[in-house]
Amino acid sequence: MPIVWTPNLSVGVEHIDAQHKIWFEKANELFEAGKERRAQDYINTMIDFLDEYTKKHFKDEEAYMEEIRYPELDAQKRAHASFINDLAKLKKDYNETGGNILVIINANKIVIDWLTNHIQNMDKKIGDYVKSL
Ligand SMILES: [Fe+2]
Repeated sequence: MPIVWTPNLSVGVEHIDAQHKIWFEKANELFEAGKERRAQDYINTMIDFLDEYTKKHFKDEEAYMEEIRYPELDAQKRAHASFINDLAKLKKDYNETGGNILVIINANKIVIDWLTNHIQNMDKKIGDYVKSL
């Protein structure tokens, strides 16, 4: 199942949407690489990129929420921290198994479930709040 950003995931804040799109593209590249059993070091590089990019994205998103004095910032921070943990676990599983197909399917599922839920349920509210300002 490919990981694709769809317009219904739009938060309505341009730079946040742009980062979400890149995130989806990179996650998709990672899972494609895993499925095709491309070189382990390539997969590691991709996981590191995703890990770094996620941290950067969360930092930017949190800075923006601070800027607009978003009331649900703490809940967002907690959700972000928990996703960073999930990603660390995923990285460990990948490294331990060499990215076998079950890990890839599971990782795919975790990322899609978590990210689409988070964007749809939490990030979209940032856009609603901005509109109400
Ligand atoms: Fe968020």
